[in-house]
Amino acid sequence: MDSVRNPFAPGAGSRPPELAGRDAIIEEATVAIQRALLGKSVRSQMLLGLRGVGKTVLLNKIEDIAQQAGHVTTSAEVREKQRLSDLLAPRLSQVLRRLSLVESARRQAHAALRALRSFVSVFKLSYGEVNVSVDAEAGVADSGDLESDLTDLFLRIGEAAQAADKAWTLLIDEIQYLCEDDFAALIVALHKINQKELPVVFFGAGLPQVAGLSGDAKSYAERLFLYSAVGALDSEDAKRAIRQPVEAEGEVITDAAIDEIIRQTRGYPYYLQEWGYQCWERADEGQPIEAAHAARATIEAIRRLDEGFFNVRFERLTPKEREYVLAMARLGAGPYRSSDVADALGETHQSLGPRRAQIINKGMIYSPGHGDIAFTVPMFDEFLMRKYPPAQ
Ligand SMILES: Nc1ncnc2c1ncn2[C@@H]1O[C@H](COP(=O)(O)OP(=O)(O)O)[C@@H](O)[C@H]1O
Ligand SMILES: [Mg+2]
Repeated sequence: MDSVRNPFAPGAGSRPPELAGRDAIIEEATVAIQRALLGKSVRSQMLLGLRGVGKTVLLNKIEDIAQQAGHVTTSAEVREKQRLSDLLAPRLSQVLRRLSLVESARRQAHAALRALRSFVSVFKLSYGEVNVSVDAEAGVADSGDLESDLTDLFLRIGEAAQAADKAWTLLIDEIQYLCEDDFAALIVALHKINQKELPVVFFGAGLPQVAGLSGDAKSYAERLFLYSAVGALDSEDAKRAIRQPVEAEGEVITDAAIDEIIRQTRGYPYYLQEWGYQCWERADEGQPIEAAHAARATIEAIRRLDEGFFNVRFERLTPKEREYVLAMARLGAGPYRSSDVADALGETHQSLGPRRAQIINKGMIYSPGHGDIAFTVPMFDEFLMRKYPPAQ
């Protein structure tokens, strides 16, 4: 069919043609956004799931909803090894500039900008973009302790949003890349805001390991966040994710073709889009997409995933780390006992600790439970077995 009309072609922000199966999460977020505007207490939401399940798409959707409802929004994605202060400072300055344009909030926004100024200098953030053209306020957000300074800053921003009769939505993606101290500081700051009932809502997204915090941060987090698991779509939703976009283009796809797609993708959103794309490319204009097209799509989709999605991630691992993940894959489908991986490599569980930790830090594997380990990319084990077939 005409590639120009292919509804599964990757577009801006990886927005899917049909956002299937996420109504409950969207509804929950919408309610929080509206409650914040009414000055009512809200719960922060944390979306956790593997790679390619649609977390970023959801955060984008939630940001749209918040903006339409009249929130000012700040969205950011943490990069590996990035500090929270680096990530937030320039973005907070933007949001405060916007709030300072509202007459009723000018004074509070200014106060918040002064707090930001202190924050920037105490954390030695060298940003042309921040360029906060106000004097620092002594004693606010300048202790050098991220936990209390971030709290000061968030409180000021919340007060400015309140004075503007607005609310502030903060969205942070790839939360698992925050170091433990930064994550703890974020949690404490959000917790304090919550107690003051300021109009601030937080949405985070990350790999499932984010739930594995320790100490005080953990007990705070459990009260603070509503955790939502984002996973593969169930069969009804997966069918809709494929059928709806095809039919919206005036074309038809058979049940048998859809069954093949679901069997191959197991309902994982990223893979559904890939298979949908390939099916469309293989079918003829005005003729139904059939099982035979889907079968050919499977071959092409797997080839493309192996070369792209899977391989770029594999390439980021060192030779030693590759050995480790290969040993995992050879044990079959996960999760795996880390002691079994150690046995397979002829090493001890302890000696492999640092290597395992590095692969976790790279976001390739995570620990779903004590002593267990699993891939963060669905079906990564199958990719590795294709790439390194067992000796005959
Ligand atoms: N609910 C959904 N239904 C159909 N496709 C989806 C859905 N959510 C995400 N996708 C598609 O899956 C892919 C991965 O989404 P993304 O948000 O980048 O995943 P993540 O951030 O979890 O890695 C994108 O191509 C997106 O269009
Ligand atoms: Mg993402």
